[in-house]
This record gives sequence, C-alpha cells and structure tokens, in this order.
Amino acid sequence: MTILAIQGLRGGSGATSVCASLAWALAQREQSVLLVDFSTSNLLRLYFNQPYEKNSGWALDIIQQQKLGNPINYISVNHISVNNISVNNIPAENTAINDINTAHGVKKIDYLPFGILDEKKLISLDSWLQEQKNKQPTHLPDELSFLSAVKYDWIIIDCSSTLLSLVELAESLADINIFTLNPDIGCQVLLKQRILPANSYFLINRFIPISLVQQDVSHVWQQCLAGFIPVILHADEAQAESLALKKPVGECRPDSLISNNFIDLADWCLTLNQPNHKDSE
Ligand SMILES: Nc1ncnc2c1ncn2[C@@H]1O[C@H](COP(=O)(O)OP(=O)(O)OP(=O)(O)O)[C@@H](O)[C@H]1O
Ligand SMILES: [Mg+2]
Repeated sequence: MTILAIQGLRGGSGATSVCASLAWALAQREQSVLLVDFSTSNLLRLYFNQPYEKNSGWALDIIQQQKLGNPINYISVNHISVNNISVNNIPAENTAINDINTAHGVKKIDYLPFGILDEKKLISLDSWLQEQKNKQPTHLPDELSFLSAVKYDWIIIDCSSTLLSLVELAESLADINIFTLNPDIGCQVLLKQRILPANSYFLINRFIPISLVQQDVSHVWQQCLAGFIPVILHADEAQAESLALKKPVGECRPDSLISNNFIDLADWCLTLNQPNHKDSE
C-alpha cells in the first residue's frame, strides 16, 4: 500500500481534482484506491456523485464522538454512477454489480468524505488533533488507525485548503507528498519560500502550451526541481466539466487530453512501487 498526500502549493491549483482523477486512472490500471478527504471544503466526494446535502464524514464523526462511518464504495456501471445504495434496487455490495464493475477493468474506488464542519467544530477538531499529537507524537490516534490498517493498493489524501494540523498529519503519513503547481511566477516564488517535506514531488497542472511564460517556467522546473514529475497536466475544460457532472474526468470524458494525462500519471505512480525506482532517480 502506498499513501499519497496531495496538496496545492497554493489554493486552487488543482489538488482535489487531481485526487479524484488520479484515483479513477489508477482504478483503470486495476488498482484499488481509498480516497480520504482532509480538506475542510469537503468537495472530493462530489466527484463521486455524493448527494450535495449529505454532511456526514470522518471529521464530523470524530467531533461528535461517533464510530467512524465506513468508506463509501463508488461504482460505475456503463456510465451510471451510484453511491452505496442501489442500482435498480440491488444493494451496491451485491457481488453481481461488483462483477460488472471488475468486468470493465475498474477496480475498487472507496472514498471517505471529510464532513461539513462549522468554524466552532473545526476549532474543536484542531484542538483534538493537537492534543493527540502531544499525547502520542509518533502514533496515530485510535480513531484514525484505519489509515494504516486498511488494505488498498493506494490511499490518496486530499489535503488542499485545510487546517495546518491536518496537513502535518497527512505529510507524516504519506510515502509521497505531491504538490500541484500552476506554471507561473507566483508558484515559483512560493516554491522558494516554503520548506517542504523530504519526500516531495511536484506536478504541473493547467499547462497552456501556447503560453511563453508557462513554457519557460515549466522548462526551468523540469531542469532544476528535484522531485519533478515527468507528466504535465494540461488546462482542459473537461476537468472543470467533471465536477459539474459529478464524475471523475476519466469516466465522463475518457478521450480528453486531461484524461490521457491522468493515465500517464497513474503509470508514473506505478513505477514508484518498482524495486529499482530509487536507484533510477
Ligand atoms: N487541468 C485543469 N484544467 C482546467 N480546469 C482545471 C484543471 N485543474 C483544475 N481545474 C479547475 O480548477 C478549479 C480548482 O480546482 P481544485 O478544486 O481541484 O483545486 P484545489 O487545489 O483543490 O483548490 P482548494 O485550494 O480550494 O482546495 C476547479 O474548478 C477545477 O475544475
Ligand atoms: Mg481542494
């Protein structure tokens, strides 16, 4: 199992959409994926067709001292997507549906929403996380032990736009930290200003090939940035459409440029688990 924590070097650079689209692409490569939303925006779930009104999630469960809800299984059958309930009144756990799912070469995608927390609840969550860290600096709180106990090929954590305590937790859990960057001077400056974890990788998103500034910035990063991921995600309207359609882009626009970029990204991720990966860097 490999844990990827994905965040933007700054807000809005595409971390949440990358989490959703990469999960789909990894599933196309017959990988099982658990997506965990650490972002207080709670948007990741909407790429998997969860009803907007649902406010439940793991962080809310913790604050309300409830048992954590199970991850939700996302099932896609011939472009009909459902959440955990039924297709034609057949329970989602039904093996027949899962057979159809795997017959299309798509392995399991589960997701855990963050939940909707108001300001007061977020402050309580932050205090709880700090308290747990002070008590047991090197151990995960029992409530979050599922993050090390579950059996998936990949866990992808969306830690965009969230509490510093959650970013720190995600970074400490991650085998790989991926930062999404938009190829502009602002991101270049932020790269210089921030101290980033040792296992950081950098992913260009929203690349516009005709922009000379973007060409130059990308070229410099490609040459100089240790941990540069050799896959570039292009600016593509299909990515924005995917949230409107509440599906990962690879599902709703499989032939788009960006969907192909994500397949390349999934293939790059798979090279991380090859024994000679470290030697080849
Ligand atoms: N490659 C792309 N091409 C076009 N639009 C994109 C691309 N990547 C992301 N977007 C759009 O940019 C917006 C912000 O993306 P997203 O929410 O994934 O960013 P984020 O880093 O998670 O933001 P936040 O910091 O608010 O959590 C979304 O509307 C998304 O559809
Ligand atoms: Mg986000």
